[in-house]
Amino acid sequence: MRKDVRILLVGEPKVGKTSLIMSLVSEEFPDEVPLRAEEITIPADVTPERVPTHIVDYSGTDTCISANVICIVYSVNNKKSIEKVSLVSLVPLILVGNKSDLVEHSSMETILPIMNQYSEIETCVECSAKNLKNISELFYYAQKAVLHPTGPLYSPEEKE
Ligand code: GTP
Ligand code: MG
Repeated sequence: MRKDVRILLVGEPKVGKTSLIMSLVSEEFPDEVPLRAEEITIPADVTPERVPTHIVDYSGTDTCISANVICIVYSVNNKKSIEKVSLVSLVPLILVGNKSDLVEHSSMETILPIMNQYSEIETCVECSAKNLKNISELFYYAQKAVLHPTGPLYSPEEKE
């Protein structure tokens, strides 16, 4: 069994990375957020998969961070925030469309080609830090991508 999971949130400025983390932790949308959230650790007994989970808010000045799964956050009301994403990854990726409270329509049409192009992407989810919509799901999918990988990064020989 894996002893913990490290989730890294990356994405363009102002897409809501820090807000998503704060919303998860405090179960309410913070009116003001620091530029960056402190690394948080969620104890095993309150995570769906019962594994201690660390959540790391990426800052552009970081040069070396380890992670088991990377959540690429974009803002569903700003297509540019997804188009800028370029992917090179050795760990599973989750595409996270934040600020779903601001739009009527989903961004699926925009991200489907990206999903099809990059097999490292495990799944995608649209959410809102503001409405607390799909926040716990997002972190659950990230945990699951590490603990029960299904994608091409998964090699059965490396199990255990
Ligand atoms: P940087 O640290 O500067 O890269 O930004 P960030 O990605 O951490 O974004 P941050 O959490 O600072 O949020 C940026 C702005 O978007 C803030 O004004 C938030 O209040 C707002 N915001 C974040 N999430 C949501 C959301 O789900 N809905 C809406 N409407 N606004 C949001
Ligand atoms: Mg931030």
